[in-house]
Amino acid sequence: MTYSKSTWQYLDERHISYEGRKLLYFAGCDYLGMSRRLGTLQAMKVALSDTSFLSVSASRKTTGEQTVYQAAEQALSRQAGMEAALLTGAGYLAPLCLADHLQSHGHHLLIDERAHPCLQDLARLSGCSVHPYRHRDVASTLSTYHELPDQKGVFLLSDGVFGLDGTLMPFDDLDEQLPPEVGFIVDDAHGFCCLGQHGQGLLEGGSKRNRNLLLSVSLSKALGCHGGAVIGTLPSIDSIMAGSKGWAGHTPLPPMLAQATLASLEYLSHHPELLTSLHHRLEHFNQYWESLGHDTLKFPVIALAATSQAHAKSVGQRLDMAGIYAPLIDYPNASPHGVWRFSFSTAHTLEDVRMLAQTLSSCIETGQARRFSIGHGL
Ligand SMILES: Cc1ncc(COP(=O)(O)O)c(C=O)c1O
Repeated sequence: MTYSKSTWQYLDERHISYEGRKLLYFAGCDYLGMSRRLGTLQAMKVALSDTSFLSVSASRKTTGEQTVYQAAEQALSRQAGMEAALLTGAGYLAPLCLADHLQSHGHHLLIDERAHPCLQDLARLSGCSVHPYRHRDVASTLSTYHELPDQKGVFLLSDGVFGLDGTLMPFDDLDEQLPPEVGFIVDDAHGFCCLGQHGQGLLEGGSKRNRNLLLSVSLSKALGCHGGAVIGTLPSIDSIMAGSKGWAGHTPLPPMLAQATLASLEYLSHHPELLTSLHHRLEHFNQYWESLGHDTLKFPVIALAATSQAHAKSVGQRLDMAGIYAPLIDYPNASPHGVWRFSFSTAHTLEDVRMLAQTLSSCIETGQARRFSIGHGL
């Protein structure tokens, strides 16, 4: 398959115009609707007019430092309940900026075999020996760990939320069963600000065993901005700032986006009802979805794959008739025939969410599609 290059136009927070039709938009990762929030956009505009420049045009290690970057980092670490943070120009770059840290502190990397490409790239760049374990499989992780030639400098790398199918890393079990000396690097691009009672993400509550945790996040999902960050303990962040060529060697995100990130975080801290509203939509979807005999979603993302090439067309028609925007997507780790990935957000009504559940269930009941899971997609 080739991916669709068709473009869509924004109509309102729930709808887009696509090929001349108004369709419900259950795509992307703007889980809290922050990318369209007036206050976030306004903060960006004011920052741009105050500074009168778009880019610092230099690394922060040379002449690109700005107060707003430091303020955004403080707010990000506060949101995550961790000590310190370091901004990066994109979410993808956040894990890559850990490569030198791993080279000097790590030796063996345990990595989920279906981890996001940014973690796979980190593993390659670090020069450490790489040991994949079966996707989200605790027993496989433990046996891979015990088979290591030695247990020195071991780090585990995994997505927090696997963004393609919405499944979660089994963090609590891994934390409980792996020795506390094993450091965890969790890419929680999707879970940050969405999961947990306080929106800290998958790691809310931290390690029960005082484990060293490093988190990488994207600012372009729940926060609705652009950029990324590494978040962790003060010594780890200091070591990354001092030694990362990836961090030293790139221009940071535009200051106006750091300002917008601050505005989004500020808004979230004063409006916990936004997170509650997302969780409420997830519960509503699940109530209906479970009553139709399907397994619970842990995150407001679900993916389907056609059971055959021939069925792909019928599923597409069914979704189209329901008025749902649903292009087949092509992404690393997806199914060879492509998948449909659906996400819902605080912008959707409960009726939208229920209609989505009903339509997807009918695609599965007719045998034309199955629920797609990354582990069984290839
Ligand atoms: C799990 C995960 N990590 C990292 C990224 C990259 O983040 P960004 O798009 O902000 O560069 C993505 C992007 O979709 C992702 O899904």
